[in-house]
Order: sequence, then structure tokens, then C-alpha cells
Amino acid sequence: VGDPSFSQAVIAWQKQHGRHALPWQNTRDAYRVWLSEIMLQQTQVAAVIPYYQRFLETFPTVEALAAAPSEQVMAHWSGLGYYSRARNLHRCAQMVVAEHGGRFPADPGLLEELPGIGRSTAAAISAFSYGTRAAILDGNVKRVFARVFGIDGFPGEKAVENDMWQRAVALLPESGVESYTQGLMDLGATLCTRNRPACPRCPLASRCVAHLTGRTAELPVRKPK
Ligand code: ADE
Repeated sequence: VGDPSFSQAVIAWQKQHGRHALPWQNTRDAYRVWLSEIMLQQTQVAAVIPYYQRFLETFPTVEALAAAPSEQVMAHWSGLGYYSRARNLHRCAQMVVAEHGGRFPADPGLLEELPGIGRSTAAAISAFSYGTRAAILDGNVKRVFARVFGIDGFPGEKAVENDMWQRAVALLPESGVESYTQGLMDLGATLCTRNRPACPRCPLASRCVAHLTGRTAELPVRKPK
């Protein structure tokens, strides 16, 4: 169910306490946003930063990346892991050039048709690059939702995930989706951590089921064996 006070709390917190100086922030260049979101899918911010910067120096545009030999792209990814991401990244760049005139589409549905871009990554790219009102749901956001709403199922289970997607869509603010999206990511990464979450500093603590019932250590539910 929609609840403007939820998004307003996240937005106000992001503006005061969120991250504002990451190398891929303060740009609306969809190429840069896309590159950062793919690198951040399975890798932490601190590890991504030097790769992101070297990548952009060598491949400053989607055209440059599309035209590069695969070996050079793989060499620049080497050390980041999950190498299918690099192969999809290269194919995606070639498709953006061949099928979209070198511009990443603004529509999350079209972004999702490109290799390596799932629903949440498509929404993040569209929100950060074009201000589109689209919902993200990555691992960090699943943890925040499981705790705030006291969701008892394993988030890897389809029914639980569907329920979380519905909430993610309903909670989107009318405006300010960039700050809101970044705020959810920052809350999950910096306060609502897996172990020892910093509830006293959390803008959602007063409405967080897990915090209010002493269940932050139990939620989200772990993978059933
Ligand atoms: N993780 C995924 N996307 C991110 C972003 N834009 N900033 C920080 N961490 C992220």
C-alpha cells in the first residue's frame, strides 16, 4: 500500500546522511550509470571504484566499448569476478549501438531486454539517468523490506519476492525517485546491514517491525536447507 511518509523519510535521510560523492553519482550519463550498476551487482562499492575509473578512461563511450576487442574488455574486468557480467556488458554495448543509436533507452522494459540487465538494474538505470519512476529490489532493499514490514518468508522464494515487488512499486514517491532509490540502497548498505544494524540512526526505526519486536537478527529469513 502506498505511504508517502515512507518515501519522504528515506529521501530526507538520503539528502542528509546518504552517499553523494560516489564516482557514478552526479551524472545523468546513462552509459556511466549502466556501467556502475553492472559492476555493483555482485561487487562492493570500494572494490568497484578503481575498476570503474579505469574502464571509463579506456572506454569513454558506449561506442568505444562496443568497438573494443573482447580480450581488451575482459582484461579490464579481470579481478572483478563473475565474468559473465563482462561478456554481457560487451554484448549490451554492441546492442545499444546497433539497435538504439548509441543511446540507452529510458523505458525500463526496453532496458530489461538487454543482456545483463534484470528488472532491478533496469529500474536503477532508468531512475538515475532519466528520473523514471521505477522500483528497484536488490538484496539490500529486500533486507530493508523484510525488516520494516516484518516479512517472514525467505526472499529468494517467488511468492515472497512478488510480494516485495508489489510493495516496492506501491512505495515509490511521486517525485524525487533518484534520491529515494539512492536512499534505499544507502540505507541497506550503511545502516540496515546484515549483522548489527544501526537502528538508532535509522529513519525507519519507529515503523520497523523487526526493530520494534527485537527481530532484526532473524529477518530476513535465511535460505531454508
Ligand atoms: N549498489 C548498487 N547500485 C548502487 C549505487 N548506485 N550506489 C551505491 N551502491 C550501489
